[in-house]
Amino acid sequence: MTLLPRASNFGTEIDSLFNALLGLSVVVILAVFITMIVFTVRFRRGRDVDRSGESHRQLGIELTWTLVPLALFVGIFVWSIRLWVDLRTPPRDAEVVYVIGKQWMWEFEHPGGQREINTLHLATGQPIRLVMTSQDVIHDVSIPAFRVKQDVLPGRYTDEWFTPTRPGTYDLFCAEYCGTDHSRMGGTVVVQSPQDHAAWLAGHGTQTLAMQGRTLFTRYGCAGCHDPGAAVHAPALNGLFGSTVPLADGRQVRADDRYLHDSITLPASDVAAGYAPIMPSYQNRISEADILALIAYLKVRGTDQEPAHAR
Ligand code: CUA
Repeated sequence: MTLLPRASNFGTEIDSLFNALLGLSVVVILAVFITMIVFTVRFRRGRDVDRSGESHRQLGIELTWTLVPLALFVGIFVWSIRLWVDLRTPPRDAEVVYVIGKQWMWEFEHPGGQREINTLHLATGQPIRLVMTSQDVIHDVSIPAFRVKQDVLPGRYTDEWFTPTRPGTYDLFCAEYCGTDHSRMGGTVVVQSPQDHAAWLAGHGTQTLAMQGRTLFTRYGCAGCHDPGAAVHAPALNGLFGSTVPLADGRQVRADDRYLHDSITLPASDVAAGYAPIMPSYQNRISEADILALIAYLKVRGTDQEPAHAR
């Protein structure tokens, strides 16, 4: 039973699980209600039947009604937990698209620098991982045709992944009440063939996200402290992404998106070992979009993919 278009890799399995749960529930409801109706009629007032309520144990029946539901529900549990793990494990070749929610619109950023508002262009067959954050309150990206849904939180990156399987235009909703225009906060996912999508990307690209980040790195004054040769003693950032950072308080953290994001907005937490906590906070001074561009730049800084110093 499907009332929605089914346009991602998860469609079939999520629908099967849903239908199995629905079917099982119907069977249980029928068993309860049919028994209830039969007993109501059979033992109604004035009817001459045996009401002594004599009890006699039947081990076979008791084992059956204990073990059969147990097996069914453990089976459902194993099925759903495997599906859940799959939903939470993006494949390595998944392409990242950044999503920023704000009252009341969606902003999408492709790694090539293409930026979209309330419309998201994707290609069939390409696994996509949405890395999402919010500029204000909690939102939620729900794409029913893909059977995915995930909260979007301020100050955190959450993600969801899927592979679009069918070209077409699908609805995207905000599925978390976020204020006055929540009901109108939505958008469209346009799934194209790989060729059409490549043409679309080529026609909308200007500067890659990393190139935009390189420019912002200078504009926000990051370079003044973090470039080699700067007078201020600040951590070097080349090759930082993905490495393990020893902190001043003895802990160790992995330099991932969250760490870089928080180092910009909350520099006083997670201070790198050997450095004074002198960095000013950029909270409310920098948009989430600019932070994403800076992180994209930091990921390639010091590697052979680093964009040239174009300004
Ligand atoms: Cu954003 Cu509801």
